[in-house]
Amino acid sequence: MSTIPVALVTGASGDIGGAIAKTLGGHGWHVIGTYVGAADAAAQTVAAIIDVGGSAEAMQLDQRDPTAIEAIISNIDERYGHLDVLVNNAAWNIGIPFRRLDDLTADIWDRVMETNLRAPFLLARAAAKLLKAGDGGHIVNISSAGGISPGSSSIAYSSSKAGLNHLTRCLAVAMSPEVAVNCIAPGLVENTRMAARLPDNVAEGARQTAVLGRVGQAEDIANQTLAFVQSTSITGQTMVIDGGMPGAMR
Ligand SMILES: NC(=O)c1ccc[n+]([C@@H]2O[C@H](COP(=O)([O-])OP(=O)(O)OC[C@H]3O[C@@H](n4cnc5c(N)ncnc54)[C@H](OP(=O)(O)O)[C@@H]3O)[C@@H](O)[C@H]2O)c1
Repeated sequence: MSTIPVALVTGASGDIGGAIAKTLGGHGWHVIGTYVGAADAAAQTVAAIIDVGGSAEAMQLDQRDPTAIEAIISNIDERYGHLDVLVNNAAWNIGIPFRRLDDLTADIWDRVMETNLRAPFLLARAAAKLLKAGDGGHIVNISSAGGISPGSSSIAYSSSKAGLNHLTRCLAVAMSPEVAVNCIAPGLVENTRMAARLPDNVAEGARQTAVLGRVGQAEDIANQTLAFVQSTSITGQTMVIDGGMPGAMR
């Protein structure tokens, strides 16, 4: 069994997940990066890590499927015997303005919740034994500022991320003292496909309101993920990365 620390990063084919995977891969973790359909993008992330001397692999995972979640964790258990970092980054959204209540169907609600909230719990539950086995495990959940303030691509997305923020606190208690569980809540992250699916007024409003004169970049989220997994004394916390929204500062 390999002793290299292992990080499972869900949604590594995406913009932010790719940046997180490359950052962890560049700092000594063997990265297992998941994708659901975008195998080429996941392969590019893996290639970029290997290019700089790191170690990585891509695995397909539809995290709406509880059986697939159990299978990927069993695979990691059999091949590595440990898991040091779980980054619950993958998520799904669709742009439905809040006031268009009738457009938010039960099917859309379920898809958002299964992907964005149920799957991070099922992944944490399945990986708990492996995360506790090592020398201080970490979970980092990637939430959204829309889970704190009521504004984002849809009511379902905001609600799923609010749930993920609280799941972070609950898991921090449930998995202590062996595992630290923290969360990053990005506001608008520039140059991402997910940001492109936001209604124009939401994206432009964020750019205009940020007191630092800039909103987030994928690398900002990746660097904060690294900071959390390098810390041994922070748990149960949600870090907002949004360029500074006065109305949302706590
Ligand atoms: N971008 C922003 O402005 C922003 C703002 C706030 C929060 N966030 C959060 O940051 C995280 C990453 O966002 P992003 O901008 O990088 O999004 P993205 O580019 O759209 O990537 C989403 C990732 O999730 C994966 N995914 C979607 N459905 C899945 C499923 N059923 N099972 C497994 N994986 C699935 C996608 O896989 P495929 O590529 O294979 O489809 C992709 O890797 C998300 O949690 C998002 O909510 C983003």
